[in-house]
Amino acid sequence: MTDFTAVMQLAELPAGAMRACTVAGREIVLCHTREGVFALDNTCTHAEARLCEGRLRATRLVCPLHGASFDVRDGRVLGPPAEAALTTHAVRIVDGAIEVALSS
Ligand code: FES
Repeated sequence: MTDFTAVMQLAELPAGAMRACTVAGREIVLCHTREGVFALDNTCTHAEARLCEGRLRATRLVCPLHGASFDVRDGRVLGPPAEAALTTHAVRIVDGAIEVALSS
């Protein structure tokens, strides 16, 4: 069974915004897009910048350090210099709270 953890209220994450949180010691970035809320590892696969300090443009997350970009829906790389995809995590909204289940 997948283990969901409540991380914050949906009201704390306006549309178009992203925020970091920690789930079981792992740092996650939550991204609120028009397509819903997505959760990914907060560490860039290129040189470990914190992605929550970058920019969110629709479903594209841009790294603050060297500008790599990722699709928040599936973590795939959209632009260099990163080559490896980000790990994504399952999200659900329960009674106004955002819950995340880590991928292994
Ligand atoms: S650390 Fe993210 S692009 Fe280099």
